[in-house]
Amino acid sequence: MKTANIVLLPGDGIGPEVVGEARTVLEHVAKRFGHSFHFTSHPIGGIAIDTTGNPLPPETLAACEKADAVLLGAVGGPKWDDPKAKVRPEQGLLAIRRGLGLFANLRPVRVHPMLVASSPVKADRLEGVDILFIRELTGGLYFGKPRLREKVGERTRAVDTLEYTDEEVRRVVKLAFRLALGRRKLVTSVDKANVLESSRLWREIANEVGASEPSVKLEHQLVDSCAMRLITAPRSFDVIVTENMFGDILTDEASVLAGSMGMLPSASLGDLDPRTGKRKALYEPVHGSAPDIAGKGLANPLAMFLSAALMLRHGLALESEAAAIESAVDRALAEGLRTSDLGGTATTRDATDAVLQHL
Ligand code: IPM
Ligand code: MG
Repeated sequence: MKTANIVLLPGDGIGPEVVGEARTVLEHVAKRFGHSFHFTSHPIGGIAIDTTGNPLPPETLAACEKADAVLLGAVGGPKWDDPKAKVRPEQGLLAIRRGLGLFANLRPVRVHPMLVASSPVKADRLEGVDILFIRELTGGLYFGKPRLREKVGERTRAVDTLEYTDEEVRRVVKLAFRLALGRRKLVTSVDKANVLESSRLWREIANEVGASEPSVKLEHQLVDSCAMRLITAPRSFDVIVTENMFGDILTDEASVLAGSMGMLPSASLGDLDPRTGKRKALYEPVHGSAPDIAGKGLANPLAMFLSAALMLRHGLALESEAAAIESAVDRALAEGLRTSDLGGTATTRDATDAVLQHL
């Protein structure tokens, strides 16, 4: 019996719908396995801008710092999309990643045998695909300084900065090696070392970490050819570790292998706290707020359920409970559950019911 305080950050668009369904699934798991989960909900993103003026209110961050686990839906939408706006929902997401020190974003991409037909990629390429992306999450272009826009004579100039320290690279690459040890022992470090100085540092540190873990094979791949290999030979990857923006782009590409973005969960992890032995973490689907289908009950909640499973496994050490959700999702798909993103007609609620039936 475990007691856990779970913070829910529903956010915007389909976020509240899929988080609500995940709560139902988690309540069911708690009942079946005899745990007591206590849920509180806090605003982030556009809804937080509307109610407090701040995409990450300090109370939300404080609640996440105290929580045993944090589950996030999605942020953003057309209402807050004005490029001239001073505050944007996405700033809330970046601020919580940075605020909790979540430097590694794990995005597993597995191809469910039943969903091979949902992918535009040829079936023979998809069999057995099982990739773990580890995207660096608190550095690189997303956070580098300077970041500015200025008038230079007649012209307008804008600057973003891609920067990494050796330590930022080392901690995320080390994590990649640790996770590869429990898998097929291959790490592909993705960079653009033929052009970028930050990538040359990245490669140097990856080699250093690799030398200290000889049982894991390390290979380097340039990001452009990695994008190609993801479609031509996706089975050839095990663990991919890469900088923030490369990881953002490559994981959207890789979602096509899994049939839909609506299938991909993620876990964002920080450092181990030596005092508590716990890691700060946040679990969220890879998909966004999907404003086009928000409020219609059509969203695929499976990525959210699988994120909840990652939360049970990594955040609360509840392995059987996590596996129960994953196998319920598998069986629901095997029995034909298809939401609209997968070419079917099932609603969000239908998907929840199908998964609950197998729990
Ligand atoms: C993601 C999203 C975010 C990112 C956006 C919403 C800021 O695309 O989590 O992949 O770029 O990190
Ligand atoms: Mg993205």
